[in-house]
Amino acid sequence: MGRRKDLMARRKKIYEGKAKILYEGPEPGTIVQYFKDDATAFNAEKRDVIEGKGVLNNRLSEYFMSGLNDIGVPTHFIKRINMREQLVRSVEIIPLEVVVRNTAAGSISKRLGIAEGTALPRPIVEFYYKDDALGDPMVSEEHIIAFGWASQQDMDDMVALALRVNDFLSGIMMGVGIKLVDFKIEIGRIWEGDFMRLVVADEISPDCCRLWDAKTGQKLDKDVFRRDLGNLADAYTEVARRLGVLPENNVPRGKPTLIN
Ligand code: TMP
Ligand code: ASP
Repeated sequence: MGRRKDLMARRKKIYEGKAKILYEGPEPGTIVQYFKDDATAFNAEKRDVIEGKGVLNNRLSEYFMSGLNDIGVPTHFIKRINMREQLVRSVEIIPLEVVVRNTAAGSISKRLGIAEGTALPRPIVEFYYKDDALGDPMVSEEHIIAFGWASQQDMDDMVALALRVNDFLSGIMMGVGIKLVDFKIEIGRIWEGDFMRLVVADEISPDCCRLWDAKTGQKLDKDVFRRDLGNLADAYTEVARRLGVLPENNVPRGKPTLIN
């Protein structure tokens, strides 16, 4: 076993999810997020291993999270460590998936009978209770406050955070000819003494966004896997290529890149 594998084996695993593994970080209050190649959909009914997906999502999540940090939208992201791992701050995850939609697609189209691709009159923020056994049901502010998952103040802060992320991501994507249809984020609490603040956590990657080519409508996100539309790694590589974010070993030879 090589030295790196050895180190990884000794590191304490905190949690293994569908797409990532969390390990204890080097300092108190830190965590190492390891991005796997596993892809799942429909609550893991459909699953596959997509070679290179973890590397791409690690890079892309780094790109979006550090950009958010730079404009003053707080995230858990500290730094990328290597091809598959990043160092993040340990947070207390609020058990909600926060979805923002700009264009109808997926579950809102099904639930409300709105044709996919219809522009929504304004960004719509939705909350889903994170519980795989229940299939992540949609919940309202009433449920969230009554069951104590978040306070009224948290709700206001979460909506504000989600809309700032939406403006940031929409702008970046439109700059490279991609429409941000919708996305999901997770939000965590960080305690500093008695003071608590909310930060964007988990990951931001094509696994949790819908991204359509602005001209052709071609899907460049996990729907490629969910709906069997082609090669998922190719779609994510295209997103990374347009953003100038490519893992070192995927850089096409002889082409200039924007990696710093
Ligand atoms: P939906 O249309 O299926 O409700 O999905 C809305 C957005 O949330 C879409 O960008 C995909 C993302 N999403 C996740 O990241 N994880 C999930 O478990 C689900 C259901 C959706
Ligand atoms: N992430 C969820 C699952 O694995 C659902 C999805 O993204 O479609 O199963």
